[in-house]
Amino acid sequence: MSASPSTSRETFGSRLGFILAAAGSAVGIGNLVAFPVAATKSGGGAFLFVYALFVFFICLPVMMAELAVGRKTAKDPVGAYRELSGGSTLWRIPGWLALITPFMIAVFYMVVTVWVLGYLIATLSGNLDQLTTDGYFMQFINTKTVFGLLAVLMLVINGILLLGVKDGIERAAKTLMPALFAMLVALVIFVLTLENAFEGVKYYLVPDFAKIDAHVISKAMAQAFFSLSLGMGILITYGSYMKKRDSIASSSRLVALCDTGVAFCAGLLILPAIFHFNPEIDTSELSDSSAGMIFFFLPKIFLALQANIGYVGASIVAALFFALVLVAAITSLVSIIEVPVATLRDEAGMPRKKAILTIAIVQFALAILCAMSFGMADWLTKFVSLAGADKSFFDLVEIVFYDTILPLNGFLICIFVMYRWKKAKFHAELQEGDPAFAGSAWSKYVDFMLSSIIPAILLFVFINTVALKFF
Ligand code: PHE
Repeated sequence: MSASPSTSRETFGSRLGFILAAAGSAVGIGNLVAFPVAATKSGGGAFLFVYALFVFFICLPVMMAELAVGRKTAKDPVGAYRELSGGSTLWRIPGWLALITPFMIAVFYMVVTVWVLGYLIATLSGNLDQLTTDGYFMQFINTKTVFGLLAVLMLVINGILLLGVKDGIERAAKTLMPALFAMLVALVIFVLTLENAFEGVKYYLVPDFAKIDAHVISKAMAQAFFSLSLGMGILITYGSYMKKRDSIASSSRLVALCDTGVAFCAGLLILPAIFHFNPEIDTSELSDSSAGMIFFFLPKIFLALQANIGYVGASIVAALFFALVLVAAITSLVSIIEVPVATLRDEAGMPRKKAILTIAIVQFALAILCAMSFGMADWLTKFVSLAGADKSFFDLVEIVFYDTILPLNGFLICIFVMYRWKKAKFHAELQEGDPAFAGSAWSKYVDFMLSSIIPAILLFVFINTVALKFF
């Protein structure tokens, strides 16, 4: 498994290209929906504050560690761990985890993205009113249409991947990310002009620190970690396409800023919309899940807009929103599938095209199993029993890979970089393209946190999740 790649390794064409591609990975359903849902339920501005602290003080150093490992080795995660550990057998484990985790997260994320695509198509075909009828969602996700849409989605994503790093991933990010920003800004401006919107803004921005408890803190932490695409091998892989002349510290800061900016704007979109339609809303009644928000709550809000702007206007706003989420999800999926593609290419010496096709076939099959986990097949719907409750195949993938292994991967990369690869070498990599990094206060902070507090937090989250979800 150590064949050399068949072609010379590509890099991103420009720093902006890298930043947009990494931001494309980071900005996803997590920012646009999970973040506003969590903020609405957990103290508004106070949640935002805690979240931003986590992003910049806990997650950013982990992002730098992943990028440094990738750029130093110019390899996929499996190869990167192998090379920097001097071929240690034990350190192969995190390499393989950094391969299988994105592979499986992509599978369940793809299914949710397909539902968004279905809602976009329904809205564009003039059926916004149907989306709000009782039982529509469950009925829709159990139709064969889902399989067809899955095939379309996979064609788009794999089409982008087939074009390569620079002409595929980077070019798609350069086109799709500005489109995403434009759609988001247009929607925010529109929502802010609605009556009562200001109540929502007030709720969002005036912090209620009384709501910040241990549960909210752990939610903010998990959300920040997921949102920056950490623990999935993505940043190791994207780092491997980064040029030596670019600064890892400042590029990471820009990506984090972009990601947090989008989450912030999504809050400005969703909270005022909620308050416009229901100024007396008791936010504790809102659904806890992103799926609840996208597929149940928001369609109702969009439909109610017909009183202001007519049915066609309301459908356009809804379509813009679903398109926004779809674009964000596509750029995230491209980044996550690039991880196994890079591994097959670097480790097995497979040509890029063959690697993409192989992965697509396996993922398509697994995604079908996930999609059938909501009633189509009984054995998948009640796949296992965990902590005394039946869980579907879809749930199992989410619990094992997203909830549990993600923080473990984060813990392992910190320990690896600081104690196996070693601080001095990590620093030398960070100084490439950024001589001012040496000796800066930020470099001391990164050192201290990555070798102590951050891995401790991630280990705690991992153990806590195992205890909660599995027993
Ligand atoms: N950052 C993404 C989000 O917020 C997480 C993700 C990345 C998910 C890549 C899947 C693939 O949704």
